[in-house]
Amino acid sequence: MPQAVFHFPRGFLWGTVTASHQVEGNNTNNNWWKWEQEGHTNGTSGLACDWWGGRWREDFDRAAEAGQNAHRFSVEWSRIQPAPNQWDEDALEKYRAMLRGLRERGILPMVTLHHFTDPLWVWEHGAWESAETAGLFEKFVRKTVDALKEYCSLWCTINEPNVYALSGYANGAFPPGAHNIKRAVGVEANMLRAHAAAYRAIHQIQPEARVGYALHYRPMVAKNKWSPLDALMRSLRYEGINMAFPSAISTGVLKSPVGNLSVPEAKGTQDYLGLNYYSLDRISFHLGKPKDLFTHSDFHEDADLSDNNFIANIPEGFYESIKWAVRTYPNTPIIVTENGVEDSDDHMRPRYLAQHVHQMWRATNFNWPVKGYFHWSLVDNFEWERGWTQRFGLWELDVETQKRTKRPSADLYAAICKENGLSSDMVAKYCPEVSEKIFPS
Ligand code: FCB
Repeated sequence: MPQAVFHFPRGFLWGTVTASHQVEGNNTNNNWWKWEQEGHTNGTSGLACDWWGGRWREDFDRAAEAGQNAHRFSVEWSRIQPAPNQWDEDALEKYRAMLRGLRERGILPMVTLHHFTDPLWVWEHGAWESAETAGLFEKFVRKTVDALKEYCSLWCTINEPNVYALSGYANGAFPPGAHNIKRAVGVEANMLRAHAAAYRAIHQIQPEARVGYALHYRPMVAKNKWSPLDALMRSLRYEGINMAFPSAISTGVLKSPVGNLSVPEAKGTQDYLGLNYYSLDRISFHLGKPKDLFTHSDFHEDADLSDNNFIANIPEGFYESIKWAVRTYPNTPIIVTENGVEDSDDHMRPRYLAQHVHQMWRATNFNWPVKGYFHWSLVDNFEWERGWTQRFGLWELDVETQKRTKRPSADLYAAICKENGLSSDMVAKYCPEVSEKIFPS
């Protein structure tokens, strides 16, 4: 095998990503806690990774020792503003301590302001179906950014608005478990207005800020490329899942399957594109699936699948996603805000990681402006409706004892971060089965 190192541009951000509800524990005042108590999830978040109890310190130590120079985490609206007229200064102080903790360890923070959870008082007032929520969110953002700006200038307004809207209001996996495309589009539109308002508010408070959101981007192919019906279903689904926010940010018009909507204030509201990529779907027409608008999504029969068949390891899809981002937003920096795989015994993660980093390296070689990569996730955490059945961490978590155990992938990722590159030796050591693919002889 040839010896080589694929280097990344100087200053590249190498980090991991977490989200408040998934790691903090005891987030009792939001819609997800309620959803869990009602029995809709596979187990409950409980103490999660006990970050609110202070275990963020040991996990940040792990990240720093492993050579990570960036970390993306989210703040919990329901803690900072537990009631409409109540601000919890202690909660803000805790987030300030976490941000200082990152800085002291040489880790650049990126803060997400909304990652799937809503305070109960917002939830009970119609959540994102209400036109008032964008204004409420803007207030919360102003308060929070003002309190945290000393330590952070890289902001992600809303994580995966498409997943929040479609999972909650179209496929019913997230609260409130609804099945109504029109409602889902209404939610996305309000999130878009909120994002635009937050974008402007943050720049007002902190002119040097870099602000964007995180898009769950799902590339898709037609199952049978000769079938016009498969092609049609692919394009409907592709547009419906991927394009609402991106189209509005380009043009001020939110495109949707139930009609287009003018949101002019959204145009141009991103300083970088946050790209979350996990896998690529294969789409076909299916007469037996009226509820899914006659589309069926699956993976190729020979796909390299994760524990629960949730993710197929398709690194080329990552390259295509980055290419799509560059073509859609020329000259806009791209930050990979999430990428990772559920894999409890770590048999697949090393190759998933190496192959995805390799594809990202190909992209940087065209001078495409990929600025950083955040791996999901630092430590196993509570995976929404799937609960504890999915293990995405570089470190394994024993939920009962809170004990962390390092997976081999953590060492591979540390080697990548420290080298600012991927070498043939790393691949030979951690995932020799893909050596020939990444470093062909
Ligand atoms: C993304 C979410 C993140 C995590 C990963 C696996 O869609 O943003 O919170 O659940 O999937």
